[in-house]
Amino acid sequence: MRKPVIAGNWKMYKTPKESLAFLDAFLPLVEGHDRDEIILFPTMSSLAYVIEATIGTNVRAGAQNMHWLNEGPYTGQTSPTMLVSIGCRHVLLGHSEPRLYFNETYERVNLKLKAAINHGITPIVCVGELLAEREDLRTEETLRSQVRAALRNISASEARRLVIAYEPIWAIGTGSTASPEVAAQAHAIIRHELSHCCGPQTAANTRILYGGSVKPENIGELMAQEEIDGALVGGASLVPTTFADIVNYV
Ligand code: 13P
Repeated sequence: MRKPVIAGNWKMYKTPKESLAFLDAFLPLVEGHDRDEIILFPTMSSLAYVIEATIGTNVRAGAQNMHWLNEGPYTGQTSPTMLVSIGCRHVLLGHSEPRLYFNETYERVNLKLKAAINHGITPIVCVGELLAEREDLRTEETLRSQVRAALRNISASEARRLVIAYEPIWAIGTGSTASPEVAAQAHAIIRHELSHCCGPQTAANTRILYGGSVKPENIGELMAQEEIDGALVGGASLVPTTFADIVNYV
């Protein structure tokens, strides 16, 4: 019922030329793959090129962030209408890097989430605890409050297309992946809070992805968990053969 999503977050890597070279190698390796949705998140200057080059394929491309307003004097920002105008239908919101380095807050994530929904853009909202929060046994409290803040005043019908990514900050780019059991536990907490916010039907239908040092070697055991509906992959999505191995996991 919940179609898995395997997404690649390219962060601040790959020029348009490098992005197109990636697609040349990657697209044939996943041709005809229909088990999972495949979505790439290139940096803004490569996004339109990747969207154009993936038209008619089974690969989609989305933005790594956006503003919530349609236009205005906001230097450095990109609006939902601008994304829609280039055929973009997916956006990452609340990733821990903008939260840690650029003061992103869940109040803003909430505004962006509403804007994405209003523009028909599928949002992938990221949540996840710091190592200190896990060690202080505050993982559950942290995840619940992040989900609550992101979904404030979002109705069940608005949350229809929502995707959540559980990305424990201690697992991002560190090589230490959450064990499948630890990830599944966190996903269950998130799903429970989703049920509080938007009702049991939304909770049952919402895909929750795991992110944090996903590689070809661990994708299979992660995906074997009933609670895990896909992966948001950073470093390992930059190499076409490696990312294709993740997409084609068994
Ligand atoms: P890594 O896969 O490099 O740990 O990054 C995860 C991530 O931040 C995806 O959004």
